[in-house]
Amino acid sequence: MLKREIKITADGSPTLYIPAWEESYHSKHGALQEALHVFIKNGWDRFTQQSEIKVLEYGFGTGLNALLTQAKAEEMKMRTRYDSIEKFPVSPDEINRLPIPQTMNSFLDKNEESLLTKVFKKIHDSPWDESVEISAYFNLNKIFGDFKSIELQQNHYDVVYFDAFGKRVQPELWTEQVFEKAYASLRMGGLLTTYASNRQTKRALLNIGFEVEKLAGPPGKREMINAWKK
Ligand SMILES: C[S@@+](CC[C@H](N)C(=O)[O-])C[C@H]1O[C@@H](n2cnc3c(N)ncnc32)[C@H](O)[C@@H]1O
Repeated sequence: MLKREIKITADGSPTLYIPAWEESYHSKHGALQEALHVFIKNGWDRFTQQSEIKVLEYGFGTGLNALLTQAKAEEMKMRTRYDSIEKFPVSPDEINRLPIPQTMNSFLDKNEESLLTKVFKKIHDSPWDESVEISAYFNLNKIFGDFKSIELQQNHYDVVYFDAFGKRVQPELWTEQVFEKAYASLRMGGLLTTYASNRQTKRALLNIGFEVEKLAGPPGKREMINAWKK
């Protein structure tokens, strides 16, 4: 397993950094800002007109996206089923040293820090490959598996959070073969959202039938992608 270090990003929120790859789990310009912009505002928020939102995340990682989505689901009283794939889980020791809930309060001020800390623990303590009710409006299923070979439900999800490491370090995950699985798992009208915006990713998404929209990126990034199944 590659060595990881904790780093504090520009908005004060923490991330994990892999020195051997010079790659971090989130943007150095602000982990929380990035997650809120790419996955909440340009992902989950697009489906709040329906009675339930089904999310599939590529890369559970630190659980930051899961915790943010849980907080939004409770705030908006919007039932959310959250499935998240991960092949290399972060260790409990690393999670205990990551002050994620402590830095979320300034962004989601309705949430109490102690409650967030409890929820964050519950998210990480929950067993793999089992649907667990984390809170009234949020169910989590952490799926232990590989993006390339995972079997997914077809025409099922509203939104895919595509949060793999960058193409520079894992080019094999930004391929048509991987995006095809995500496409098939989405229902018609569903959305894949990702922080990436490079030309090859856009081309691969277009080739398998997505309608690609370029949007303004989070702080420090000019653009990001929303890809619609239409
Ligand atoms: C950018 S990080 C995800 C960050 C995460 N969403 C968060 O909120 O902290 C990418 C994740 O993909 C996982 N990963 C890398 N290769 C994978 C593969 N082939 N299958 C499944 N997970 C993989 C990594 O272990 C890492 O947790």
